[in-house]
Amino acid sequence: MLFDTHAHYYAEQFDPDRDEVLSALPAANVGLVLCPGCDLESSRQSIALAEQYPFLYAAAGVHPEDALGLPDDWLEQVEAMTHHPKVKAVGEIGLDYYWQEVPRDLQKEVFRAQLALAQRLDMPVIVHDREAHGDSLAIVKEFPGVRGVFHCYSGSVEDAKTLIKLGWHLSFTGTITFKNARKAPEVIAAVPLDRIMVETDAPYMAPTPYRGKRCDSRYVYRMAETIAQIKGLTTQEVEEATTENGKRLFGIED
Ligand code: NI
Repeated sequence: MLFDTHAHYYAEQFDPDRDEVLSALPAANVGLVLCPGCDLESSRQSIALAEQYPFLYAAAGVHPEDALGLPDDWLEQVEAMTHHPKVKAVGEIGLDYYWQEVPRDLQKEVFRAQLALAQRLDMPVIVHDREAHGDSLAIVKEFPGVRGVFHCYSGSVEDAKTLIKLGWHLSFTGTITFKNARKAPEVIAAVPLDRIMVETDAPYMAPTPYRGKRCDSRYVYRMAETIAQIKGLTTQEVEEATTENGKRLFGIED
């Protein structure tokens, strides 16, 4: 059974057939899904979905691209959502230097505030780090008590090893299946299987051979297959390990 540790099912791309897609997952060998929010509204929507589907869990948080124009009590609102029994992490949070609209100082402030919240609540975090590897690593190091996952990991082998040493997990999307993937296979080869998780980041980044299509959790087996190939393991071994890793990190029991 696979655990898709990162999929955005509140996205409008699922409006026409959300229930159809989600209801089909258990029979497609996807037994667990974690749906992280990107802002207050989508965090609330993730929780609503988690209430509806027993195999779906949520995370609440503010993504760096959504850090502009937050209400004064935004952090209190995130904290209130984390008390929901199906909210298993603060996320997704982090830094995104690809999109230029949100000033970096504000991104850092919102990231640090949520890391401090996770530390206080003793909750794992889901980190989004796009073209901000140096600053993301430096900031998580300021919070040595906080653990979590760098989702859609795109950093170097060296940074990956540092994160592993600090107790973090890494998760990988469909980009690892692309023909031109170079860095991710090296990272996967270099880090221990017990710190790796699989994810789709649905509705984005469908793996080969589904590239260009809307992505959903049914494609997450391709990430497990690719990791198995790189590490010289069976897909079954990777499937079991990545599911266990996700359950352990997010505190999900059978
Ligand atoms: Ni995401």
